[in-house]
Amino acid sequence: MTGPLTDEALAALIESHRRQKGALLPLLHAVQAACGYIPETAIAAIAKALRISRAELEGVVSFYADFRRSPPNLHRLRICRAESCRATGSEALWLAAQGAPADIDVEAVYCLGACAASPAAEYDGRLLCRLDPARVARLLQEGKS
Ligand code: FES
Repeated sequence: MTGPLTDEALAALIESHRRQKGALLPLLHAVQAACGYIPETAIAAIAKALRISRAELEGVVSFYADFRRSPPNLHRLRICRAESCRATGSEALWLAAQGAPADIDVEAVYCLGACAASPAAEYDGRLLCRLDPARVARLLQEGKS
């Protein structure tokens, strides 16, 4: 469950991680788990607490595709575009998803561990296997709020 991250909650997360060796990534994951993304206030506070530059921190956040810098939409469709899924039609899924409503985030992912049942995707955390473009279109239609 995610929601707004208060200053107090952010301070508590930082305090619980700051002395941990290699604290940065676990702390970023904790912040994102708490509020769904890495807000600007967290960037500033984490950089100060861990004594790293904001530029370095921004570089880490932008390097890892799973970290978000803006609040997530209501739904999230992650389509696998790695080899096995590409060989079985994931590009058609990707194209079918380009007309997604504004409340659905459409993202590429590179292997969901379901290669034997490709093409695969994940919708709001649920793994979907052997997809076809028509099923993607139905998903997007059902996902509209
Ligand atoms: S390549 Fe798509 S699930 Fe592995």
